[in-house]
Amino acid sequence: MALLEVHDVVSGYGRTDVLHGVSIQVESDEIVTIIGPNGAGKSTLFKTIMGYLIPRSGKILFAGEEVTALRPNKKVEKGMAYVPQLDNTFPSLTVHENLEMGGYSKDSKALKRGIEFAYHTFPILEERKNQRARTLSGGQRQMLAMSMALMSEPKLLLLDEPSAGLAPKIAEEVFRQITRLHDKGIGIVIIEQDAHRSLNISDRGYVLAMGQNHFDGSADKILNNPQIKEAFLGGR
Ligand SMILES: Nc1ncnc2c1ncn2[C@@H]1O[C@H](COP(=O)(O)OP(=O)(O)OP(=O)(O)O)[C@@H](O)[C@H]1O
Ligand SMILES: [Mg+2]
Repeated sequence: MALLEVHDVVSGYGRTDVLHGVSIQVESDEIVTIIGPNGAGKSTLFKTIMGYLIPRSGKILFAGEEVTALRPNKKVEKGMAYVPQLDNTFPSLTVHENLEMGGYSKDSKALKRGIEFAYHTFPILEERKNQRARTLSGGQRQMLAMSMALMSEPKLLLLDEPSAGLAPKIAEEVFRQITRLHDKGIGIVIIEQDAHRSLNISDRGYVLAMGQNHFDGSADKILNNPQIKEAFLGGR
């Protein structure tokens, strides 16, 4: 049984459809990358998977159970977690308070466990625990946003452009931690502009274009496909 199944989902904003029947599947032991041009609907797909947008048609299954129309908090309770592309921390709260917000649904024991895990994974967050999130660097903020999502102890983690705006060294560190989370048994889906970096740590990938599935296959197959290279990987 797949961890996540998205079947033929139609979704959008107001009366406008952005996704015109998108399907993806993620196994519990996979890292999957989603690439595609600006405006393809990648972020919209994540918002729909998490329940911020309810599909007009199609189905979403999590661990075999239909979750199509569940609200985001219910999805988090079931083990789905999401780091949005923008506004993914509370700027006026401290690092510690942000982590507590991330674990709002947890009892005090799980909260403590989650915060310890975050500080162990990203020691810089412990050093900065009493600083407000707005004072963090871009990389530190991304690490905080990921740690907040992990507070709910998810089985599936959706990361929307985790390396956007980060210096290459910091992006590398973020990706190293993503691989570690995968080793701990968390299924991971990454939307990424730096397709090479992300596909290099992925099992499979999907190319979305104009709200539709354009191509999918193993990460190697995507990296080596001449048409995909030309159109979506900057010719590299
Ligand atoms: N809140 C919104 N209200 C109305 N339209 C929106 C909203 N958010 C996105 N859109 C539109 O939906 C389409 C897909 O946007 P989406 O953010 O999903 O693309 P994306 O693939 O994530 O792009 P990017 O690579 O730039 O992040 C775009 O045409 C965008 O203008
Ligand atoms: Mg986006």
